[in-house]
This record gives sequence, C-alpha cells and structure tokens, in this order.
Amino acid sequence: VETCLQAIGREYYPTDARLHQACRYALATPGKRIRPLLVYAAHLAAGGDTATQTIADKPAMAIEMVHTYSLVHDDLPTMDNDDWRRGRATVHREFDEAIALLAGDTLLSDAFAVLTAEDLPGDLSARMVRELAGAIGGQGMAYGQSLDLWWTNRDGYQQVDLDQIHHLKTACLIAAASTLGALSAGAAPDSLPAFRQFGWRLGLAFQIVDDLLDDQAGTGKSQGKDQAQGKLTYLSLMPRHEAEQLAKRLTDSAFNAIRVFGERAGLLRELATNLLQRDK
Ligand code: IPE
Ligand code: IPE
Ligand code: MG
Ligand code: MG
Ligand code: MG
Repeated sequence: VETCLQAIGREYYPTDARLHQACRYALATPGKRIRPLLVYAAHLAAGGDTATQTIADKPAMAIEMVHTYSLVHDDLPTMDNDDWRRGRATVHREFDEAIALLAGDTLLSDAFAVLTAEDLPGDLSARMVRELAGAIGGQGMAYGQSLDLWWTNRDGYQQVDLDQIHHLKTACLIAAASTLGALSAGAAPDSLPAFRQFGWRLGLAFQIVDDLLDDQAGTGKSQGKDQAQGKLTYLSLMPRHEAEQLAKRLTDSAFNAIRVFGERAGLLRELATNLLQRDK
C-alpha cells in the first residue's frame, strides 16, 4: 500500500507547488490503511489471486485517496477543527485552509482518474465508479458528514439518527472498499450484496470503536474532542460496555454476511477482528 501511495504521489503530485506538497503530505501521513487492505482481502475472497492483485491496486489507491480527502476536510476549522491527525499536524495547520480545501478536492478528483486508468477494462471502471460515487455523495459519506454536523450540540436525537450518521459517513465507504475489491476480482453480480452487507456492518462497528477511542491517548488525534465539542456518539446513547458489545455483535453479523466465501474470506475476517481490537 505504501509503495503504491508513493507512486501516486510521483505521478499526480510531482512538483514543489504547495498543492502538490499538501497532497503528498496527506497521503504519506501514517494511517492504518484499513480500506486498501479491505480491498485486497475482498479481492481474494471473491476469487482473485496474486496474479490479479495489481488490478486491485487501482481501487485500493482510489479509496485511500477518497478517505484521505474526507479526513482533510473533516479536520477543517469549519467542520471538526482538529490540529492533529495520524500524529502529525493536520493539512490546514501544516499549510493553510485554502490549500487544505483544494487538497481534498484534488484527492477526490484524482481518485476517479485512478479508477478509470487506461489499462483497466472500461466496464470494470464504470462499475467501480458507480459504486464508489454512490457511497460518498448525497446518499453516502458527504450526506453523513452533514448530519454529523447538524446533530452536534443538539438534543432530541434517537439511536436511529446516530445509526444513520455512522452508516452514511463511515460504513458506506468501507462497504465500497469491500465491493470494489470483489469487483476487481471479477465477482459475479449476485455475490456483490454480500460484500456490501459485510462492509456496512463492519463499517458501523468501526465507527463505534472510533467513538470509543476518542477519549483515549495515543491515537494520533486530539483526546476527548467529541465530548468537548458536543458530538453525538454511541457514548451519548449507552454505557461504554454496551457500545463494545454492540460493535462485537455487528462484527459477528459481518462475518455471517461473507460465510459463503469460506476459507477464501480468511483475511477479511482477520482484518475485521483486528479492527475491533485496535487501539488507534
Ligand atoms: C478515521 O478513519 C475516520 C473515520 C471514518 C472513523 P481511520 O481510523 O481509518 O483513519 P486512518 O486512516 O487510520 O488515519
Ligand atoms: C469522520 O468521523 C468520518 C469521515 C471523515 C467521513 P470522525 O470525525 O469521528 O473521524 P475522526 O475521529 O476525526 O478521525
Ligand atoms: Mg467528523
Ligand atoms: Mg473528526
Ligand atoms: Mg472520531
């Protein structure tokens, strides 16, 4: 993943221009790279192998670029106003707000250039673009982020509101990662709902754990920010141990969604287990 990300930096952001520097900076900060790993693991589960793996590089990079854009914008003063990300200064702190805004726009745009590279079959590109665009636009991540902001410091919420926010802002992109991984292995259309369902359930568990980690030290992000800012999180709704159990149940139900793939889905299951136990 790191090697591919460096190649993206060289190809798309080769100069000393501040925009290019900011894009390289954002991509190089040490993230967990969960989403590209999910792409590769789903690629294997859907019948891909090491010979076809370079096809999966494209969606793996595109999704990490989209994810990175979402973090750069999420950290902006007008959104979560964060100074720290992945143990480094956020892009708007290291550069400035305008550059952070444009770096996000740039990474999002170029993700689609990566997905439609000339060496990919056109029908595969079209399917992957449709799936990814649907997961991050007005019915996906961007919508979820807007609801996250709407519910900040507001009363009258119910659990369905938070389920919807977390589904849209986080689970949709995670589901796109597993689905694009499967598509890149030539998965049959009737197997795609299983990969989507797996990602939706795992993605919700993932964001619950993110909420639980917010007040912990050592995550590379500011500590205790959600509570200080009045964010709606699972800890607004239930005690910690109940939220932990919910994340565990969701991960188990994610496993059920991919049971049909048997042994081939071993790496997907391993990743999901690690995500539940992560400390950052
Ligand atoms: C953080 O995602 C944003 C959420 C959707 C919770 P990650 O926890 O995957 O962040 P990095 O990429 O490892 O920094
Ligand atoms: C971020 O959720 C979700 C997206 C970036 C789409 P958070 O705001 O909880 O993520 P962190 O905690 O800043 O990483
Ligand atoms: Mg946020
Ligand atoms: Mg945030
Ligand atoms: Mg968070």
